[in-house]
Amino acid sequence: MYNSKIIGLGYYVPENVVTNDDLSKLMDTTDEWIEERTGIKERRWIKEGTDDSSAVMGAKAARIAIDRAGLTKDDIDFIVFATLSPDYYFPGCGVLIQDMLEMDTIGAIDVRNQCSGFIYGLSTADQFIKTGMYKNILVIGAEYHSNGLDKTPRGRGVSVIFGDGAGACVLTREKDNSKGILSSHLHSEGKYADKLIVASPSIGHWVPEIIESEEEDISYFPYMDGTFVFKHAVVRFSQVIMEGLAKNNLSKDDIDLLIPHQANLRIAQFIQKKFGLTDDQVFNNIMKYGNTTAASVIIALTEAWEKGKVTEGDIVVLAAFGSGFTWGSIIIKW
Ligand code: ACO
Repeated sequence: MYNSKIIGLGYYVPENVVTNDDLSKLMDTTDEWIEERTGIKERRWIKEGTDDSSAVMGAKAARIAIDRAGLTKDDIDFIVFATLSPDYYFPGCGVLIQDMLEMDTIGAIDVRNQCSGFIYGLSTADQFIKTGMYKNILVIGAEYHSNGLDKTPRGRGVSVIFGDGAGACVLTREKDNSKGILSSHLHSEGKYADKLIVASPSIGHWVPEIIESEEEDISYFPYMDGTFVFKHAVVRFSQVIMEGLAKNNLSKDDIDLLIPHQANLRIAQFIQKKFGLTDDQVFNNIMKYGNTTAASVIIALTEAWEKGKVTEGDIVVLAAFGSGFTWGSIIIKW
């Protein structure tokens, strides 16, 4: 059995900055409300007319990650792509990356686990490397939220939170079992699926029915019971971080850097306080990008690494919670 380690990181966000004040012109909201409740000051939304999409942004991030890994696209054996906003209903974005990067006919899968998507994706890649099946795997998290949000006043509880962007990493074989990904921990609780959901199109409510509906059908916009999700998030984040630490005989004092999914700065601050971590030990960038769902952890990890906050030997904890509900953590010795 091998371990796996991250050897290349990259991210890409669209140029177009949308501030809270910009949103207050579209819907009944204010900079104060958004910042106080979420910590978000601005996010990136793809500008109409540009060719960015989840796959296109994912490809841009992937090229940087592969280059920084010192590899070429021909060294990659497999693609894992996490997104809730794929370019097409099907096929998934993984195969589009295979084409965009002009790769050999390597395998590609999509992971549909929303805010936990990157954690699930990285864990999936880790298993393929552990068994020796693949050596170098490209893992991407990307979201094009902005074209699927309800930007009318009705959508203000959800639409102000989400941003577009992509991150990618290259995971490779590591022979030293004390280094790299030490463990991953994945959970789900489908009974709460309807608490954070895009309900249509679905088996009981297919496209022709939505089109023919006389009244405006809002079931194809994201719905979130924010308070309910918030309460579960703080509990599950804590549990799954503790689970990861316990599995590796580590304590909270061993954490060098925590990268929480960027859902809400208040959630991250709650976790920081609970684990007694300093501002330097928790990396947040939700202020600039909002919640980029499957991209958030990998964009944050990449930015932290670029700022020199991740160095060899560090214990780095990745954790996420989101729609499903799904949640998970990954413990890395860098
Ligand atoms: N601007 C101004 N007022 C608003 C806005 C807005 N953008 N949105 C809602 N409000 C109003 C509401 O209408 C409500 O008004 P009322 O009291 O008159 O009814 C009031 O503000 C409070 O609304 P709440 O929804 O209760 O606000 P809350 O404090 O819960 O904050 C938030 C909302 C920020 C969404 C929070 O609940 C949250 O962060 N939840 C968790 C998000 C999360 O972790 N998601 C998981 C990942 S996402 C994924 O998996 C895809």
